[in-house]
Amino acid sequence: MLGGKSILLGISGGIAAYKSAELVRALRAEGCGVQAVMTRAATRFITPLTLASLTGKKVITDLFSDASDEDTLHSAIAHIDAAQQSDLLLVAPATADILAKFALGLADDFLSTAHLAFEGPLVLAPAMNTVMWDHPATRYNLMALRARGARIVEPSVGELACGTVGAGRLADPELIVESVREALRCSADLQGECVLITAGPTREALDPVRYISNRSSGRMGFALADAAARRGARVIVVAGPVSLPTPNGCQRVDVEDAQQMHDAVMDRLPEATIIVMAAAVADYRPVSAASRKLKKRDGLPLVELEETPDILKAVARRKGNRLLIGFAAETDDLESNARRKLESKGCDWVVANPVGGATGFESDVNQGLLLSATGEAVRVEPMKKARMAARILDVTARARTRTAA
Ligand code: CTP
Repeated sequence: MLGGKSILLGISGGIAAYKSAELVRALRAEGCGVQAVMTRAATRFITPLTLASLTGKKVITDLFSDASDEDTLHSAIAHIDAAQQSDLLLVAPATADILAKFALGLADDFLSTAHLAFEGPLVLAPAMNTVMWDHPATRYNLMALRARGARIVEPSVGELACGTVGAGRLADPELIVESVREALRCSADLQGECVLITAGPTREALDPVRYISNRSSGRMGFALADAAARRGARVIVVAGPVSLPTPNGCQRVDVEDAQQMHDAVMDRLPEATIIVMAAAVADYRPVSAASRKLKKRDGLPLVELEETPDILKAVARRKGNRLLIGFAAETDDLESNARRKLESKGCDWVVANPVGGATGFESDVNQGLLLSATGEAVRVEPMKKARMAARILDVTARARTRTAA
């Protein structure tokens, strides 16, 4: 599947740089062309000659060569050429330094400059000492890169060159190649689409420490985000408070309450072509939240509630020719409640799922019934949320193709 693809392989200067030789072999075995770019520090760990022998191409080691004037002119624009001719930029190993440079958009050597000139998928395989990996600065840079859609191949845990044991070892070449494969996945049936997904619960404040919420874990919404990104869509997840990592290649907007979720969705709506409302939005909120913690000594509080904005309905009013998929979480009368919701909310599809039992909220497994405004019904038996997400998108992508045709 990788046959004929060209990979721009950045190698930055860490002890794991020697492992890039094995990685090149694995990529070449898959049939891709590899152009290696080494930072100055990387050349201290492995020679450009080794990489040139394995890739069959001259290795780029500097922004400006010290060759003839003509060559210098050529190399001054070579990063643009290299960027334009490659299908994917992979950096392995990616040091803390190169992550920081990419996160900030610095461009002071060939690799960081090529990064800024590159518009395709970016895969980063970090390797470093555990303390550096855990450092808040590295965490922050990784978060920024992920939010821009970079895929991170997490380092593995083991004994490190410095003698300590922990996370920081360059991931196995097979895992890195797998991530490259995913990033270049050919069956990209959602390519060109922008999928906006809401996920997780919302929290409606009673006072600074208490809130009204529900049992949603956000797993279904995040599984959908992951599945949509794998199929080539640009994905924006508007997430309530959940403790889940951002799926690779997705942008994430964190919100707390229904009003913030509404505002974030409306803000990103113009970009979206498919909208999936998987969030369990709280239906009610206190009319006003106390500014100080409610005290027991003041007696039983009387909490007046009001409705939160119905985000799905608001989106339906402005949906145009976008595909709109809502969810219906029901404890009883699944089908009739879902049909009612499909109509009253004005969506194209509703994914009805039973909650309160073994599947649904707080579970890794879900099941349901997909109903369309045009009368189609697809039953989904209990399965892992990741598989269910793929099933939902199969139906969505099919529906989308039909709408487009
Ligand atoms: N939803 C929304 N905004 C709200 C409430 C719900 O966008 N304030 C969306 C959910 O994300 C979901 C769909 O509407 O896609 C149905 O949510 P659900 O909680 O099942 O339905 P409710 O609107 O709360 O209706 P009911 O109280 O009858 O269950």
